[in-house]
Amino acid sequence: MHLHKFEKIWLAFGIITLLVFLGIVGVTAFAQGQTPAGGLDTIDPDKVDTTAPFDKPGVRKIDDNTYEVVIKAMTYGYEPAEIKVPAGKEIRFTVTSKDVVHSFTIPHTKVNMMVVPGRISHKSYTFDKPGKYLTICNEYCGTGHHFMYTEIEVFEE
Ligand code: CUA
Repeated sequence: MHLHKFEKIWLAFGIITLLVFLGIVGVTAFAQGQTPAGGLDTIDPDKVDTTAPFDKPGVRKIDDNTYEVVIKAMTYGYEPAEIKVPAGKEIRFTVTSKDVVHSFTIPHTKVNMMVVPGRISHKSYTFDKPGKYLTICNEYCGTGHHFMYTEIEVFEE
């Protein structure tokens, strides 16, 4: 079989590109410990209300620089409805869904996670500026999807 020179170049380009991409995935997964955005913790979606920490959703201080916010997502909203956290501190969001797939997305930040029933999603974020941050669901979850949002109030400590 004879391959034209350009075909060989193109084949080599394809193979090298594939190896580069596999290399990037391998390094981020194994060397940097990157896991799927949903996280790997599981929960029984029917028992969310009685399973810790979701039996007491809300803001909890871990130490002087770290806060955890436990949130339940459901059609069509988030619980607790009111979330107030300080600026300049690490905020650890812990989110799960009681029913279908939702998301927990704070536009213009790196917080954008899928919230899957049966899974617990985690994301840490530090708000630099105080203010009100609209938080939305960007996974279509039913007729009320467009009304599924909450607001996070970030205050100056
Ligand atoms: Cu929840 Cu869309």
